Amino acid sequence: SDVPLALTPPMGWNNWAHYMCDIDERKVVANADALVSTGLAAKGYDTVTVDDCWMEKQRDAAGDLVVDRTKFPHGMAWLGRYLHSKGLKFGIYEDAGHLTCEKYPGSGTPEGGGEDHFAQDARLFASWKVDYVKMDGCNVWVPPGKTKEQAYREAYEAVAAALRATGRPMVLSASAPAYFQQGEWGGPDWHKVLGWVGRTGQLWREGKDIKVFNPASPGTSRWSSVLGNYGYNRWLTRYAGPGNWNDPDFLIAGAPGLSDAEGRSQVALWAMMAAPFILSSDVSRLTPAGLAALGNTDLIALDQDPLGRQAAVVSSDGTLDVLVRPLDGGDRAVAVLNRSATARQVSVRLADVGLPSCRVDARDLWTGASQEVAHTLSTEVGAHETAVWRLTPRGCAEPVPTGQLTGHGM
Ligand code: GLA
Repeated sequence: SDVPLALTPPMGWNNWAHYMCDIDERKVVANADALVSTGLAAKGYDTVTVDDCWMEKQRDAAGDLVVDRTKFPHGMAWLGRYLHSKGLKFGIYEDAGHLTCEKYPGSGTPEGGGEDHFAQDARLFASWKVDYVKMDGCNVWVPPGKTKEQAYREAYEAVAAALRATGRPMVLSASAPAYFQQGEWGGPDWHKVLGWVGRTGQLWREGKDIKVFNPASPGTSRWSSVLGNYGYNRWLTRYAGPGNWNDPDFLIAGAPGLSDAEGRSQVALWAMMAAPFILSSDVSRLTPAGLAALGNTDLIALDQDPLGRQAAVVSSDGTLDVLVRPLDGGDRAVAVLNRSATARQVSVRLADVGLPSCRVDARDLWTGASQEVAHTLSTEVGAHETAVWRLTPRGCAEPVPTGQLTGHGM
């Protein structure tokens, strides 16, 4: 179909970081209900996605995927109807390789060659009234004579075509770039894949998983995981725009292992980066501070700004990062991340955020307080906090240069 999809970053919930394979209908329904009862659904968190491990290990005689009825006794068409009846959307996980990451049947070409199931699986999802497909990229077979990058490109182009051919608008989360990342800078093939992935899907994972539940290492720092994913995603400004979103993985604000400040920082940084706002936690057990950050309507509006430009990093000194994001209607958002373990006094010159010679109305999106500022924004930023303002120009001596930020990627 030619309906424009995901003109702003998708929002919702996915089970993976919290439940991993330990997922079933009752847990999905409970979290869907909690999105509604917390008010998060009404604020836009509307797409509920069932991740890996929902199916049987074998397809049926007709080659169709088979839902695991011990986990999902009413089946997937029922789950779709349930979610739709709550005003929510239905997302499901599959894989562009021959096996999912957890070794359930994938949609892709079998190892050694043969028929893929892209069209058949897309039709099945459409028949279940799926609205969103997370198409992972484990176990993609690379035929002799092709590069890995070509194999992924052909697989994801086939997925996109198969979804389009159903006639049902389904958002595609295309995980290809995540399978090419080498270190914070990604490597050349990573950028090649990022160059085409937006012609297949509306959003894409490009790096590591955010992990909450990890029985093997219960002490793993969730904050380092958040900073790590922010660390590579912040440089990908040029790939984002309406209908095309970089996905640094799930929001875990309000879940165990992140402090209140760290949860607020994740929400602010993800909003600046126009990242999908997809929770992965037990929604009924979010901390009050986490729920407040995730439900902050100014930050949601920032994330969902219709201009769809991702922030650029205008400076980064190892302790403080300054990000700037141009917004619809001429406003700008400015954020300052404090990585240090102590509070820092920060000041940002308006000239450095593309508003030289302007007076601005600066609204602090955490406190809601506005003040008029000329020349320099100043504040104290707590340990691991991110200050974030929305600036509305109130008179500039010279015309505001459009898109003339000096940061990387603009
Ligand atoms: C990969 C993805 C995760 C999740 C798992 C499921 O690790 O990055 O988000 O989908 O596979 O197996």
